[in-house]
Amino acid sequence: MFIDKNEQTALATFSDAGWITEVLDTIKSGKEATVYRCRAGARYSEKLLAMKVYCDLNERNFKNDAIYTEGRVFREDKVIGDGRMARALKKKTTLGKAIHLFMWVDHEYQTLCTLYNAGAGVPKPITKTNNAILMEYLGDEEATASPLNTLVLTDEEAQTAFSALMDEIELWLACDIVHADLSAYNIVYWKNRPMVIDFPQAVDPRFNGNAFDLLNRDLTNICKHFVRYGIESDAGEIAGNLWERWKLGQL
Ligand SMILES: Nc1ncnc2c1ncn2[C@@H]1O[C@H](COP(=O)(O)OP(=O)(O)OP(=O)(O)O)[C@@H](O)[C@H]1O
Ligand SMILES: [Mg+2]
Repeated sequence: MFIDKNEQTALATFSDAGWITEVLDTIKSGKEATVYRCRAGARYSEKLLAMKVYCDLNERNFKNDAIYTEGRVFREDKVIGDGRMARALKKKTTLGKAIHLFMWVDHEYQTLCTLYNAGAGVPKPITKTNNAILMEYLGDEEATASPLNTLVLTDEEAQTAFSALMDEIELWLACDIVHADLSAYNIVYWKNRPMVIDFPQAVDPRFNGNAFDLLNRDLTNICKHFVRYGIESDAGEIAGNLWERWKLGQL
């Protein structure tokens, strides 16, 4: 298994802190990140952990990120406070790209923390570095939980999973979060429950003017996926109802 510079740094940080002892294998290597199955260290109560290491930023990553970052606040004063970071970000220098990446990683981690604490079906976040997140591993010694797009559920399982996902989307919205990249690829099925992953692009509907369209798109993807199980639903109507209730503070 090839481990690059970013992965070595993350591995060293997490193992020095006692969270993991070794990387066992690659779960998936994608455009934006690689996810590894790791042996947990003495500090963690379970035997396995998942480590998601982001790739360095380049032209291909987060191409349309303005849609998602609208309204996000960058509190430089909490970090350095002399304008250096803002300038680096604007000029897209090496430091700027590193900060940009850190903002995505940090956003995914904070979103997972908020949702996990609210009782959502997301992996428990453990800790993070500037370019990696350590989280609960969804799977066991034998197998990793499978993404929903690779599975064939029974009609009964599908109905339960669909209802659970509708409840999840509502719970996230009650926490002022829209996933914004929801599809069967970012849902894994574990212990008869859909668990949702991959939150770096999540948006806050209080500050992001694209949130309703993104909520609508998320719901459309899910509703379309479940048509194969005979589940007919109107994504636009569900999105509209949720949105109205969210606006009235009724979620
Ligand atoms: N906590 C976890 N436990 C088990 N498997 C996981 C976990 N997190 C992610 N995975 C697996 O790794 C894959 C990639 O994770 P994720 O979607 O977060 O990264 P990504 O870079 O956005 O990948 P992609 O570009 O394929 O969407 C998931 O499809 C899932 O199969
Ligand atoms: Mg993904």
